[in-house]
Amino acid sequence: MTQFLRPNIRAMAGYVPGEQPRDDGIIKLNTNENPYPPSPRVAEAIERVLRSDRLRKYPEPVGTTFRQTAGRVLGVDPDAILVGNGSDDILTILTRAFVPEGGLIVSPTPSYLLYRTLAEIQGARFQGVPYLDGWKLPAKWPLAEANLTLVANPNSPSGTMASLEELETLAGQLKGPLVVDEAYVDFANQHALSLARLPNVVVSRTLSKSYGLAGLRFGFAVASPKLVRELAKVKDSYNCDMLSLAGAAAALEDQEWLQANRKKILVTRARLGKSLESLGFHVTPSHANFVWATRRDRAVKPMYEELKSRNILVRYMDYGEHGNGLRITVGADAEIDRLLEELRKMV
Ligand SMILES: Cc1ncc(COP(=O)(O)O)c(C=O)c1O
Repeated sequence: MTQFLRPNIRAMAGYVPGEQPRDDGIIKLNTNENPYPPSPRVAEAIERVLRSDRLRKYPEPVGTTFRQTAGRVLGVDPDAILVGNGSDDILTILTRAFVPEGGLIVSPTPSYLLYRTLAEIQGARFQGVPYLDGWKLPAKWPLAEANLTLVANPNSPSGTMASLEELETLAGQLKGPLVVDEAYVDFANQHALSLARLPNVVVSRTLSKSYGLAGLRFGFAVASPKLVRELAKVKDSYNCDMLSLAGAAAALEDQEWLQANRKKILVTRARLGKSLESLGFHVTPSHANFVWATRRDRAVKPMYEELKSRNILVRYMDYGEHGNGLRITVGADAEIDRLLEELRKMV
C-alpha cells in the first residue's frame, strides 16, 4: 500500500518528539512541561462535563464559550480567536491554509523542528534563515516571498526573544503571513498580541507549558476575525473536544494560579542558569521555561547519555554547523537539585 503514498510523505522522516517514558521514577526535563499541576478548576470543569449528559453531543465547533472567556481574560475580540488541539494543530491549520504544494515555509534557525516537518507534509519547501550572533533576527529579512514565516518567540532552543519592534519590522517586510509562535510567552516579560491587529500577523498560544496542560492538548491563535473565519474552514469541524474546551476555559480563568507557578519557575530558572554557569556551561539568558546550555571544552552528548542512564532526561539538540547543546526544562526545585548533583560529578 505504501507505494500509493504521496512521494513527499514517503520521502520524509517524520517529526520526532522528545521521549515520553511511562516510568514515573524519571526526572523529565526534556519537553518543557510544567513541573506543577494545572489549576484545580480544570478538573472541576471537566468533571462537570462528565457528570452532565453533554458528552453525547458534539462540542462547540469553534469553541464559542472558550473564545468568550479567552477574549475577556486576554482583552481580545472573541471572534479573533481560533481554537486548536494543541498549538501544533494551529500550526497545521495555518500551513494547510496558506502554503500550496511546492510553496515555501521560512523560519529563523535553529528553532522548532516541527516547522520543517509541516513543510514536508504539505509538499512544500522549508528554508531556514540563520539567527545572527546573539540569536538576533537579521534586520533586513532575506526571504520576503515565503508563503508562511514562523518565528517562535521566545525561541526554542535558545529561550531568546525578538522585540515587538523587530517583529513589526519583519512583518512589514514580508509579502506573506507571519506567525508569532508564543508557546513560551507566559514566561517572558512581553507578548505580541497587539501585533495581531496587523493584517499579516497571527499569534499562536498553547496551554501545554505555562498552564501545565500538555496532556489536555489545547492551543489557540489570535488573528483578524476575517482571517479566523477563513481558517475555520480548514480545521477539522470539531478539532477540540468538549473536555479540553471546558478545561482550557477554566485554566484561563485562573490567572492567579498561572502567575504563582510562573513566579516559582522564574526563580528556579535563574538558579539553574547560575549553577550551570558555575559548572562551566554557557547558558543563554532565557525568557522561557527551559535553558540552552552549551560548552566549548567538551562534548555534551555523553552528558545527556550519562544523565539518561541515571533517570534524568534532558534534550540533546544537534543543529550541525549551528552547534549543539542541552535544552533543559526548568523543573521543580528538587528535580533541578538532582540534575545539578549528577552534572557536578561529570565536570
Ligand atoms: C515553539 C513551540 N511551538 C509549539 C509547540 C507545541 O505545543 P503544543 O503542545 O501546544 O502542540 C511547542 C512544543 O514543544 C514548541 O516548542
